[in-house]
Amino acid sequence: MTDTSDSHQLSFQQLSSHQLSSHRLRSHPHIDVEAPGRSTISLGTWPTPLEPAQRLGVRLGLGAGDLWLKRDDLVGLGGGGNKIRKLQHTAGAALGTGADTLVTTGAAQSNHARATAAVAARLGLRCLLVLAGDPPGPAPGAPTGNLSLDRLFGADVHWAGRVANADLDDLARERVAAMEHGGRRPFLIPYGGSGPVGARGYVDCARELTAQAPDSEHVVVAVGSGGTMAGLVAGLGAGRVLGVDTGATPDPERRVAAMVEALGGSPQRLRLDHGQVGAGYSQLSEAGRRALSVAAETEGVVLDPVYTARALAGLHAAVAAGDVRPGQRTVFVHTGGLPGLFGHPVAAELAAADDR
Ligand SMILES: Cc1ncc(COP(=O)(O)O)c(C=O)c1O
Repeated sequence: MTDTSDSHQLSFQQLSSHQLSSHRLRSHPHIDVEAPGRSTISLGTWPTPLEPAQRLGVRLGLGAGDLWLKRDDLVGLGGGGNKIRKLQHTAGAALGTGADTLVTTGAAQSNHARATAAVAARLGLRCLLVLAGDPPGPAPGAPTGNLSLDRLFGADVHWAGRVANADLDDLARERVAAMEHGGRRPFLIPYGGSGPVGARGYVDCARELTAQAPDSEHVVVAVGSGGTMAGLVAGLGAGRVLGVDTGATPDPERRVAAMVEALGGSPQRLRLDHGQVGAGYSQLSEAGRRALSVAAETEGVVLDPVYTARALAGLHAAVAAGDVRPGQRTVFVHTGGLPGLFGHPVAAELAAADDR
């Protein structure tokens, strides 16, 4: 769908050679200059908790002490979720270039777009979201969820209509060029926040997991634009990470492998489950619907219909297939997405369900 290059984004090498002003960076309240020319910003509360999920583990067919939830949904800023870790690096790079506006692309209910809008607000930057689709309008029942939050965080939205994702990228580049022409300093964050820079956020998460659960044998995560899985693989090795494809891109292996290599890891023998895509990215599958209910009923944990419900369904399938076995410590990375539940038709269906 999109390429993995961070267009308008600096690579590590470019970042190093780019003359970041460390005085300017240090004077920013959220910034931490970790090495000359490289910057990250702190946008959450770290480390995120690792919580036991005994009842859920048993329901999935694991032993009582086997399943743990890495609560990246509890990151804190702007509704939380995995995108904040990536933005610590991509928005850090943006500040390093002197950007005044963050620009990114996504689906109408993009969690990444919403997180980018929140981060821009936190950093005092402007934000332009180039979203696929048409404005929903004020009609009752129109999707809200992430879109409402995008507006609340003060982002501008450019509706791209029904376009392919490659066209969405082209449109965003056009908007960036127009802004530059007008004297603005936009910074384009790639689709899903995923590229070698953003994926470093999940190398950070791998480091946390190594301290919190050094003996974990499986780390299960949803795969969209691929940066989350790539960072985990770079930090933990391909054998321990099970990625569950959500159907967001046609080529998740290629995307993940390219980022793992760029991060200095080995992309050999990636574990990717393609069995949970179902009727398509935005459609809640039957297995996803069951996963959503089971997590809520056993642990009081809310998943989202597109990413984390599929990832839990993928873990269930892996247990059924014997790829993940009782007695093996397993971490499910809860990557957030709760606002997306309220932008999906399933939210209204749940509200209207008959009493039991
Ligand atoms: C809630 C949630 N989980 C997981 C993912 C997948 O992450 P990645 O795009 O890094 O593969 C996304 C991506 O949008 C997401 O919003």
